[in-house]
Amino acid sequence: MNHETTASRDAARARYLRHRRFVVLSLVVALGIFVLLLFAYVAHEVLFVGNDANYAVPPIYGNARLSPEEYQDVRVSDGNESVLITGGLGFIGSHVVDLLLHRGFKVTIYDDESNGHNHNAYANELVPRDITVVTDFPNYPADAASTATAITSTSTTTNASSSSGKRADDKSLLFTHVVHLAAAISVAESMSDPDKYERVNYGGSRKVFDWIRGYNDAVLSSIGDAEGGGGGGGGVDRRPTAARVIRKVVAASSAAIYGDPDPRLLPLRESAPYGGLSPYADTKYRMEGLMREFVESQSTSGAIALRFFNVYGPRQDPRNPYSGVISLFLEMARGGKDITILGDGMMTRDFVYVKDVARAIVLALLREEGEVNDGGGGKIGKGKSTGGGGKGPTFDVYNVCTGVSITINELAARVKSSMGSLSSIVHADPRDGDIRDSRCDPSGARVGMGFKAAVTQEMGLEKTASWFRSQLAK
Ligand SMILES: NC(=O)c1ccc[n+]([C@@H]2O[C@H](COP(=O)([O-])OP(=O)(O)OC[C@H]3O[C@@H](n4cnc5c(N)ncnc54)[C@H](O)[C@@H]3O)[C@@H](O)[C@H]2O)c1
Repeated sequence: MNHETTASRDAARARYLRHRRFVVLSLVVALGIFVLLLFAYVAHEVLFVGNDANYAVPPIYGNARLSPEEYQDVRVSDGNESVLITGGLGFIGSHVVDLLLHRGFKVTIYDDESNGHNHNAYANELVPRDITVVTDFPNYPADAASTATAITSTSTTTNASSSSGKRADDKSLLFTHVVHLAAAISVAESMSDPDKYERVNYGGSRKVFDWIRGYNDAVLSSIGDAEGGGGGGGGVDRRPTAARVIRKVVAASSAAIYGDPDPRLLPLRESAPYGGLSPYADTKYRMEGLMREFVESQSTSGAIALRFFNVYGPRQDPRNPYSGVISLFLEMARGGKDITILGDGMMTRDFVYVKDVARAIVLALLREEGEVNDGGGGKIGKGKSTGGGGKGPTFDVYNVCTGVSITINELAARVKSSMGSLSSIVHADPRDGDIRDSRCDPSGARVGMGFKAAVTQEMGLEKTASWFRSQLAK
């Protein structure tokens, strides 16, 4: 009897111990999984999403917090530099404005608001103007010295929308740099309405470059007048303290000018021949010609045309049928709709993240004349640097891309997984005239202006997907 009691007590104790071991082990495993998940989440936020709250740096002006790779190599303004940006309310332009304000530049936006967006509530100045209308451009102010003071004192974080989007005395603004992005942007629309593209992209660009030439002439003659007056002894030196010429203009060209290139030319260098297949490409290529003529016709301002490949990122409008394929796919994935690939999906594209594009624009803008490192592939033969011997302003052209292409099939799969979407990936008829392979050589921009894309396509897609998800919450 005693034996039986002891044996059953031992068995119960053994059961209890086994049970306790099981519970402890389960708790340890659960804790381990929890720690692993927490670690994965934090790593994901820091590495991919770059969650602004933890990671980004506050700006000098404006409200855009940027992570270090988003302003990598972009110097801070000397405090007297003022940038006019056409198309600054748009998808790419708004990121350029964020970056310039972040680095302490004064920014004035010229945009006719024709794309229906205003992504720049914190730009210093918003002037709703049409680049195709000559009288819309500001004159170099008659009394530049007093204007310089006025502008410096208002160049903080004025909310453009609260100042009803317009500055009363915009005729008296001073500038040191120009970024020209305003354009009609649809290849398809350019086929059905070529006149619009001729008027806005070619005619508007001509007006921008003519205006810069006239502006610089006015600055130079005002300095000459002041020097003439002051040099006679006893005369008053009226030289404006901030009277500086516009010394650089950077404008948006496009990879569309390469058309559907011979595969032997891949990856595309800037020296590849023109192969444009649309009025859009034609007007962008002829705009580059205008820039070359502009540089040859004066001795003050250099110019750089940047040929963007496929740009994507936050603020790209997915409701615009001509938007980039990434935003269209993200929109489909977000709504659980079929992600529709036109054709077999084996065509390749070089997708470059919009904040990298903004950085390329600002690096080009701030590149000093003569700073170019020779031996780069970024020089083009015809129309490249003018003025020989490294003297005087130059005109250069650079591709803006990552150098890494992916197929549209890979892209669709990545978009689907980054959105955690249940969408199906389906194929439809190919679109007429779609380019098969687009691969780009980024070495010209690296050598010529120190630009290398900092955001990988995986990271960029995560950041863009995160932005799309945040829009869903609104
Ligand atoms: N997004 C891309 O993938 C891509 C690729 C290659 C080149 N580009 C070029 O980059 C530039 C910016 O493109 P985006 O994608 O930001 O386009 P976007 O439409 O978002 O921006 C263009 C801006 O220009 C403004 N604009 C148009 N016509 C104007 C006029 N007559 N006067 C004043 N403003 C005017 C629009 O209101 C808009 O805010 C364009 O020149 C485009 O051709 C874009």
